[in-house]
Amino acid sequence: MEKPKQSTFRRLLTFAAPYKGRIILSVIASMGVAASDGVIAKLVEPFIDRIVIGQDYELARLAPFFVIGLALFKGISRYVQEYFISTAGQMAIQDIRNALFGQSMNLSMRYHTDTASGSLMSRILNDVNLMQSVLSNVIVSGIRETLTLVGLAGVALYTDWRMALMAFVVIPAAAVPASTIGRKIKKFSRKGQGAMGGLTTALEQAFSGIKVIKAFATEEQEKKKFVGQNLSYYHFIRKTIKYAALSSPVMEVLTSIGVAAVLWYGLHRVLAGEMTQGQLFSVLAAIVMMYTPLKRLTKVNNTVQQALGAAERVFEVFDEKPDILEVQDATELRACRGEVCFENVSFSYDAEPVIQNLNLSVSPGEVVALVGPSGAGKSTLAGLISRFYDPTAGRILIDGLDIKSLSTRSLHANLALVDQETFLFNATICENISYGSADATTEEVEAAARQAFADDFIQLMPEGYQTLIGDRGVRLSGGQRQRLCIARAILRNAPILLLDEATSALDTESEAMVQLALSNLMRERTTFVIAHRLSTVKHADRILVLEDGRIKESGSHTELLAADGLYKRLHDMQFLEPK
Ligand SMILES: Nc1ncnc2c1ncn2[C@@H]1O[C@H](COP(=O)(O)OP(=O)(O)O)[C@@H](O)[C@H]1O
Ligand SMILES: [Mg+2]
Repeated sequence: MEKPKQSTFRRLLTFAAPYKGRIILSVIASMGVAASDGVIAKLVEPFIDRIVIGQDYELARLAPFFVIGLALFKGISRYVQEYFISTAGQMAIQDIRNALFGQSMNLSMRYHTDTASGSLMSRILNDVNLMQSVLSNVIVSGIRETLTLVGLAGVALYTDWRMALMAFVVIPAAAVPASTIGRKIKKFSRKGQGAMGGLTTALEQAFSGIKVIKAFATEEQEKKKFVGQNLSYYHFIRKTIKYAALSSPVMEVLTSIGVAAVLWYGLHRVLAGEMTQGQLFSVLAAIVMMYTPLKRLTKVNNTVQQALGAAERVFEVFDEKPDILEVQDATELRACRGEVCFENVSFSYDAEPVIQNLNLSVSPGEVVALVGPSGAGKSTLAGLISRFYDPTAGRILIDGLDIKSLSTRSLHANLALVDQETFLFNATICENISYGSADATTEEVEAAARQAFADDFIQLMPEGYQTLIGDRGVRLSGGQRQRLCIARAILRNAPILLLDEATSALDTESEAMVQLALSNLMRERTTFVIAHRLSTVKHADRILVLEDGRIKESGSHTELLAADGLYKRLHDMQFLEPK
């Protein structure tokens, strides 16, 4: 258990490395703070012996200036220390957050479908925040308080080493409760952060599913669920608080034992004439002043433990290996012809096989329709071409090149996917259509919108193409959203088109129009059309009927009807039953 903690800490420090300059400056300033405290303790001796007892008025006149001068010096040192370490900490935190977001963008679809997005969000926001304390407060507080402690100990030892040693016997004894408390805090803090992840997930789910919640009137149920999540967070945080609150009193009692021992022994020695009153009070002052840094150090330890718990959660994400990797010297797929081949492709998400030994060769410009019952593996097939997942066996080739050997960028530049999930960003209509085609001109955007039969309704919007659509595009109807996504794909102008239920949200009339646009688009492109409505796939060059990850039938519409198989059954269900 000790070893991973070590490496987590070291790993954290590597993020601070770029800001060495600031940290060193801050450490130097913290030496100033520590030195001031040592000087104060040391000055107690002449103050009592020479001013109070010796009545040295010359020195008494200088005393106030000393006080102000010292305070000024300590104040400036402290400011420099705080400023530079806090900014260094914030910059390191910014780097961690950027790296974490970068990593989560690089992680594959598999990771994202298996991980609640709320948990990831919570790591990027809350856990990284907790880590900040290590980098900013802790590095320097730790150094400053340790230095102060050493300085004060030096003063005490120099003044009277025997008495000082008596007081210090207590310090090693303090280490035991401090480390026990630290360990507990880390454990519960880590659990608390996990609960915070659950809380974020609950929020994210509730807000994105607000329509379902309202429609099914489950507000009370959601509230109860949230209260429960919130309570479980409190449950862990309460334990963290319990141990954190314990650390100060424990330290205080331990210090008081040291002070009592010194007082008892010191008074004896003063009465025996072995030391002056001034020396006694100087040692006492040093020991009492040591209490503050000691207390702060245990607090630092508590914070470090808390931050390490958070850091472990963050590093878990960093350690996640993206399972879709680009090979070294990946081939750039330039404008491809659009030939797509599946060679003995098998795939499964978990144990269940989803695609089973599939062979398929699609020539450039061919329109292939995929039909079949839901769960047959149609969307999975589109996902495999997009390389969201790699086949568990077999290869997928584009223009004869294994897609695993291609650069991810160039592969996707040759693909345009229109999914049944019509995701739109919280941005203008124009930005949504040109998403992924950054250098498209306004004319091109408008032309794509016209082709997708989206231009008419866009023109009617208050600010046309510059209209901001709300989160998830809620200000648009399902069919309008779908048409924007189709426009986005048209603009992309890719040689391979993947349409997964791309017209499912359109009414029959607009579907007929969009179908017209799409068939124009399909003409020079290799197209995979997945559709429930068989009327939309009738005109495909080839129709593949998929069931349980296997191609059951293939042929043209008329051939398949004649074959009187699964396609015929699906067809009859759609066209005969309603009557
Ligand atoms: N992310 C996933 N993780 C695990 N199983 C999945 C995932 N996505 C789909 N599946 C399963 O794979 C099978 C095929 O799904 P899919 O390709 O979406 O079917 P279709 O698009 O033909 O309706 C289904 O049994 C489905 O439950
Ligand atoms: Mg599907």
